[in-house]
Amino acid sequence: MNAQIDHNLEEIRRFRPSPEFAAQSVARQSLYTDAAEDRLGFWADRARELHWHKPFTKTLDWTNPPFATWFEDGELNVAYNCLDRHVLAGHGDRIAIHWEGEPGDSRDISYAELTAEVKRAANLLTSLGIEAGDRVAIYLPMIPEAVVAMLAIARIGAVHSVVFGGFSPDSLHSRILDAEAKLVITADGGYRKGRVFGLKDTVDAALGKGAPSVAHVLVVKRTGNDVAWEDGRDLWWGDEIAQVDADHEAKAFPAEQPLFILYTSGTTGKPKGILHTSGGYLTQAAFTHRNVFDLHPESDVYWCTADVGWITGHSYVVYGPLANGATQVLYEGTPDTPHPGRWWEIIEKYKVSILYTAPTAIRSFMKVGRQIPQKYNLRSLRVLGSVGEPINPEAWIWYRHVIGGGSIPVVDTWWQTETGGIMISALPGITDLKPGSAQIPIPGISLDIVTDEGEPVSGTDGGLLVITEPWPAMLRGIWGDPERFKETYWDKFGDKYFAGDGARRDEDGDIWLLGRVDDVMNVSGHRLSTAEIESSLVAHDMTAEAAVVGAADETTGQAVVAFVILKERQTVTLTNEEASEQLRAHVARQIGAIARPRQVFIVNELPKTRSGKIMRRLLRDLAEGREIGDTTTLADTAVMQSITDQVR
Ligand code: PRX
Repeated sequence: MNAQIDHNLEEIRRFRPSPEFAAQSVARQSLYTDAAEDRLGFWADRARELHWHKPFTKTLDWTNPPFATWFEDGELNVAYNCLDRHVLAGHGDRIAIHWEGEPGDSRDISYAELTAEVKRAANLLTSLGIEAGDRVAIYLPMIPEAVVAMLAIARIGAVHSVVFGGFSPDSLHSRILDAEAKLVITADGGYRKGRVFGLKDTVDAALGKGAPSVAHVLVVKRTGNDVAWEDGRDLWWGDEIAQVDADHEAKAFPAEQPLFILYTSGTTGKPKGILHTSGGYLTQAAFTHRNVFDLHPESDVYWCTADVGWITGHSYVVYGPLANGATQVLYEGTPDTPHPGRWWEIIEKYKVSILYTAPTAIRSFMKVGRQIPQKYNLRSLRVLGSVGEPINPEAWIWYRHVIGGGSIPVVDTWWQTETGGIMISALPGITDLKPGSAQIPIPGISLDIVTDEGEPVSGTDGGLLVITEPWPAMLRGIWGDPERFKETYWDKFGDKYFAGDGARRDEDGDIWLLGRVDDVMNVSGHRLSTAEIESSLVAHDMTAEAAVVGAADETTGQAVVAFVILKERQTVTLTNEEASEQLRAHVARQIGAIARPRQVFIVNELPKTRSGKIMRRLLRDLAEGREIGDTTTLADTAVMQSITDQVR
């Protein structure tokens, strides 16, 4: 605690790394100087820490922006880097995954065992006709087979599209169609909050809407619930895998071989398939994982609580940790099942030393109170990480004190599905930590904060966060839509990647994220688009018009709040409460529970400008219980008063 310089003003609290921590730190100050002197040389050195079947001679090709290639003439196998390499180095007995099922069942899987399983799964995929470049959809709970499936797909040069298990049949269907997946890998069900949720049912419903590309569905038996079966199409994973060869040689693929597509919400209704490739992605995932979390693979037990259905689960559950030979915890269920201390019990059981989670989880633990974590021995923890949304200083301090015992580093990491890996973060052991700030770009990343015109902001003014130079793990495009890729991220400034976030620098040059500046909400660290939820609401028979905003929420950061105008005939039969309840359920069914609006207000009018644009800013004021802002550009200035009267 001596290292703490505690000022009265929250913003200027600083926490210097302890001398003991700094002395054994993985990251060195020289990373910053090396990267500043020769950025491309720095990344090439990082890439050479991987195993290349064929070494690269070119680092970056940026002659055709915004389409970058990294390490283009090199060849590698991503799965080999995550598996075989460690076994060959003599670490086959090291535990790769301590898997913990929600009902309390568990499995320890060594690197040798994981490698063996992935080899079989790779042979199985090949036997089902999957070839390099083919797309495979994964719709699985957090079970080891999710990791095995991803790595097996990577091993044969195919492309995975993991769809979060909470998404609805419609959402799954549109993702399968967009990627033209040949195969879907799912499970009979998964455990969540003590109940079984049927995943195979959802896949059946999705495929029932028509998916001509899908030839097979591989089903992992997890929950043993009854499932419908289509002979010829559906196959049990366990039965099939037992029949294939155990041996499999990992072939080399070009550095730019597509590795995965991951769908994320944008400002328009249609989800975007963010495309990531192999060599650059793995380089940045591995480097950041090692340095941001100070990973000592021989002694640390790492736990990232994200689901593999999100980018954090891709980069910091699967590729980063496994490329680094880490031992990690994988947990199937929710934090409060069967009791509110479940996470802390897991940390105690496996002696977790590095925990990476989201502010929304931290805030919900704060609400329940410190007496729950205090019942467990959390002294194994030595690094804490946060991702997904700004972590407010109060939550940061609580995390450090109550979970971290008051003296261990908390790193707040800013990045996106599109960036593939961490872009802004402190490095524990080097950086003086500042609660609430994501701090500085990691070595090798160039970014800036600019005005709407693209000029660097002066001093500590707020502005738009842009990335000024290509980076290894950057998205290579939007699947099947190069124009949308350009329009969404590059057209605004031409030569800079626009992240969609507002930010400012403080006097020390530390970066503070200010939230999204577009029509994207951030609910529990997950991106949802207002347009997508509006489309879903309007698709309901009773809806005439809908507007959706993200309103501040104590636990989830932002919550979905909808304003809906009903069609005349419906208003006669339903009360507003009933209509609102039905619409909330409808959105959850159409998109997934994560998109369920916190509130649906039934109103008679929406605030619009003269050109007919909905003024979401005013609705946000209303949803957050603030004084309504400037209404002078409204076509009818009385509208807001009338809506306010209906809502409040
Ligand atoms: O608004 C930023 C917010 O989450 C967005 C990216 O969302 P997604 O692609 O789903 O990836 C989340 C996990 C990487 C960003 O545009 N965001 C993410 N991390 C932070 C954050 N906002 C503030 N601070 C962070 N540490």
